[in-house]
Amino acid sequence: MQRILITGSGGHLGSCLLQTCQQLGMPTVAWSHRTSEVFCGVTLRPVELLEKDLVAEAFREAEPEIVVHTAAASTIAACHADPTRAKQVNVEVSSHLTELAEAANAKMVILSTDLVFDGERGQYHEQDVVGPLSHYGGTKVMAEQVVKQYPNHVVIRLSLLYALGEGSESTFLDRQIEALRQRQPCNLFVDEWRTPLWTPDAAQAVLDIACSDYQGTIHLGGPERLSRFEWGCRIAATLCFNPEDISPVSRASVPAAEPRPRDVSLDSSLWREHFPGGVWHTCEEALAGINM
Ligand SMILES: NC(=O)c1ccc[n+]([C@@H]2O[C@H](COP(=O)([O-])OP(=O)(O)OC[C@H]3O[C@@H](n4cnc5c(N)ncnc54)[C@H](OP(=O)(O)O)[C@@H]3O)[C@@H](O)[C@H]2O)c1
Repeated sequence: MQRILITGSGGHLGSCLLQTCQQLGMPTVAWSHRTSEVFCGVTLRPVELLEKDLVAEAFREAEPEIVVHTAAASTIAACHADPTRAKQVNVEVSSHLTELAEAANAKMVILSTDLVFDGERGQYHEQDVVGPLSHYGGTKVMAEQVVKQYPNHVVIRLSLLYALGEGSESTFLDRQIEALRQRQPCNLFVDEWRTPLWTPDAAQAVLDIACSDYQGTIHLGGPERLSRFEWGCRIAATLCFNPEDISPVSRASVPAAEPRPRDVSLDSSLWREHFPGGVWHTCEEALAGINM
């Protein structure tokens, strides 16, 4: 088994990836941002990725054969609030890690996003032209470009992930469930579409791809294209809450600092063709094991 380095191991996807690696018995080095806690039997190493010397030293010690770079300024809001830092974290760090991976002859895998597209068409393929509307999406396009300079790379564009949070980290799904439980009125967009992907399915797929010979760009989205409203109603119905507590609203009714793309659903047929054994749960299947 190849030795894998995961950045962002304290994050939503990184922690799930680490868990999956441990279940498979893969030799894993896990970097976090600040925490040095033990997670899934692995002690997280805090590495501030903006400190190049520290990163280079930790990289040499890690001796990875595969780098899975999940760490990022990962939200539209954070990137909008501090665009300079967003570029440093998302672009410059990706560039530095790619240089280190190339020098060590390691495979470089980065996580990108459906938000590289402008959302005018939907069901995007890997070769479709990008056109981000947000600063976040723009930094991800730039990160993709720097990583693509090194042949032994994979760019994995993810759709919106969902899972319950680990520990104190609350996710969109936790907040949605809490609102339904409290019977708080909830407004969701009828005119914004994604292909939501269950985070454990994403983690397994990222590992399958990282450990394979696959090189280039690949899309990982969920099995269905859903509006935020449809998706919220499906979550409510599956978990036996009342979908009528959710009201349909239009994107135009909610002011946003940056424009929201209409439809950034991903076509994942390349992933499904190359990795046909990969798990791909519908919303109902994914949530079936959750006890309310
Ligand atoms: N979740 C989604 O729906 C989704 C969808 C599409 C693409 N993606 C992409 O997938 C990847 C993983 O997303 P995620 O949801 O797991 O993100 P996340 O939960 O925000 O995790 C990102 C991690 O990166 C760490 N980090 C940020 N800046 C750092 C720095 N300077 N040095 C070291 N670590 C740093 C964060 O630590 P702190 O929290 O301590 O800053 C956090 O633990 C990201 O590249 C994201 O853009 C995610």
